[in-house]
Amino acid sequence: MVAVGVDYYPEHWGKEQWDQDIALMARTGVKAVRIAEFAWSRLEPREGEFDFAWLDDVVDRLSGNGLKIILCTPTNSAPVWLYRRYGETLQVERTGRRADTGIRGHRCLSSPVFRRFAGRIVGLLAERYGRRPALIGWQIDNELEANHCNCPHCAAGFRAFLREKYGEIGALNRAWGNDVWSGDFADFEEINTPLGDKYDYGWLNPSYMLDYERFASRSTAGFIRFQRDIIRKYSPGKPVTTNACFSARTPDYYRIFGDLDVAAYDNYPSLYKQGERSNPQQAFVLDLVRGYKRSNFWILEQMSGSFGCWAPISPAPRPGMIAGYAMQAVARGANLVMHFRWRTAARGAEMFCHGLLDHSGVPGRRFREFAEFCAQINALNIPEDAALKSKVALLYSYEQEHAFKIQKMSEGFTYRRQAELLHRAYMSLGVNVDVIEETAGLSGYAVVLVPAHFVADDAVVRKLERFVRSGGTVVVTARSGVKDPYNACLTRELPGPFAKLCGVLVDEYDPIGAGSAALSTPEGKKYAATCWCDILTPQTAEVWAAYDSEFYKGRAAAVRNRFGKGRAYYLGTVGDDALYRDLAVETLAAAGIPHGGVLPPGFEISVRENEGCEFTFIFNNDGEARDLRYGKETLRFKPFEVKVTRRPPTRSPCP
Ligand code: GLA
Ligand code: ZN
Repeated sequence: MVAVGVDYYPEHWGKEQWDQDIALMARTGVKAVRIAEFAWSRLEPREGEFDFAWLDDVVDRLSGNGLKIILCTPTNSAPVWLYRRYGETLQVERTGRRADTGIRGHRCLSSPVFRRFAGRIVGLLAERYGRRPALIGWQIDNELEANHCNCPHCAAGFRAFLREKYGEIGALNRAWGNDVWSGDFADFEEINTPLGDKYDYGWLNPSYMLDYERFASRSTAGFIRFQRDIIRKYSPGKPVTTNACFSARTPDYYRIFGDLDVAAYDNYPSLYKQGERSNPQQAFVLDLVRGYKRSNFWILEQMSGSFGCWAPISPAPRPGMIAGYAMQAVARGANLVMHFRWRTAARGAEMFCHGLLDHSGVPGRRFREFAEFCAQINALNIPEDAALKSKVALLYSYEQEHAFKIQKMSEGFTYRRQAELLHRAYMSLGVNVDVIEETAGLSGYAVVLVPAHFVADDAVVRKLERFVRSGGTVVVTARSGVKDPYNACLTRELPGPFAKLCGVLVDEYDPIGAGSAALSTPEGKKYAATCWCDILTPQTAEVWAAYDSEFYKGRAAAVRNRFGKGRAYYLGTVGDDALYRDLAVETLAAAGIPHGGVLPPGFEISVRENEGCEFTFIFNNDGEARDLRYGKETLRFKPFEVKVTRRPPTRSPCP
């Protein structure tokens, strides 16, 4: 059943506190507890001297109270003695200097010495606790990023990756275009990781940088497999995962979770400033995470209070947010939601990253809301195999995300935003969208959304052509078909390999950034556009919308093309919500997918079902109380309230 958990750091609290905490957890309806993250120095206080007695005690007390356990490997923060004695285990920053201890996450993931010590502590934990019935899974490390360490080991790893990919140095020079700025290498040994903090990504060769990002993701995946294999040896059958987050160094999570048993994510919806009311991006992120393994997932950290540490303390979660955003995760496929953290730390850098209980330990408003959420989830009995079903897929790729980070297109144009705009339009009609890897199979889908397929993969283009030829509908957006797989520009007319499918050519483009353009359709509908304007010449396509402004007034901005039994749309600009919504309505109608009309902004509907039952979630993702006309009824929602209805109903009524 879908369950609620909490993140607990027993090593920060005296034993007297444990029993009280565990009793309150059990009483509140918490089912699982995540422990041992960052606890390496307490488990191995001196090299080779281990102390598991306290963790044995915690594991016994938790399991004795019927609580399940997620055990973390503590490798994010190694003990100081390790770094002091074996300096090579510290990362080397882009400045070329070694990091120093003091924060966390300083370890080099590929240092053989680090791996020796990490492997030993992970092995001991897995051997000791791996078969305990209360153990329901493993979290490897914490929020692992792509490996951007610049130490000699990591640099050698990068060169080995390039050697394997290109075979001989001439092939790499040609692929990267190293004749520009006299960048030719005579040997792989001359290649370094990107050093020099003065150089921005915009100055470094994009081909070099994209290969570096590919390597950095692989390197992290290798570290995860190294730990996974040790865990699996001693803890057979227990799911292994890691907690994903998004940062400037996000790895390719398709690759990371491809090696793991379940996808997991740390879910921190932004806490608003006064005057802001809702958070429309959050549903996209959750759908993205569900797509990592095309399966339901876990939340290993869920927002429970104000953040504070790396930034000023944020506003407190408004009434309804703690339960609402946790239930939203369930609505989009989470089977486990673990709140970060049970108690707010009284010491250390994150003493103002608020948990469910404040420093006093006295349950307050946030805790009471959490307790209500636990009761609601426990009453619902949602089976873990109840899944979202979608006829619409959106293709997402970390290759594209990295390529756009390396080269900014125009002010305000981000890859993520192109995906979010499309996703939001279908969601506003109450239609589920699966966000899936670009290379994933398309069977079962009727509409496929392709935001900015920049670094063109011919296999993806051919797959989309086959899909449309046999009756599917595809939407392709601006900056598609621009690059070859080496992240160099294709020397053909845009949209390159998509020209045939979309029946269009791009004559010229105007990267207007924060500026705006006006559009209208042949039927007279008007839209605003921004960021980017492709000036299009339809070949076999018909005009869907044309520009109403600028020197390209009257020229096509978006087209629709019949291709085989299906249709392909090419959108050459970044429109407003109304444009994407009309496109969604039209493509859903063409594909015969029913929807219930446009929802008021901020309302989100999703359905999880299995063979026996169906759960409908309606979320008021908004800080105001609001009404929704739903079928023949008018439903009244409190701020951030989620209403869940179950069919067939159980004896325990749903709220
Ligand atoms: C991240 C980390 C946690 C903690 C929280 C604070 O998600 O994984 O250890 O730092 O942020 O919000
Ligand atoms: Zn390194």
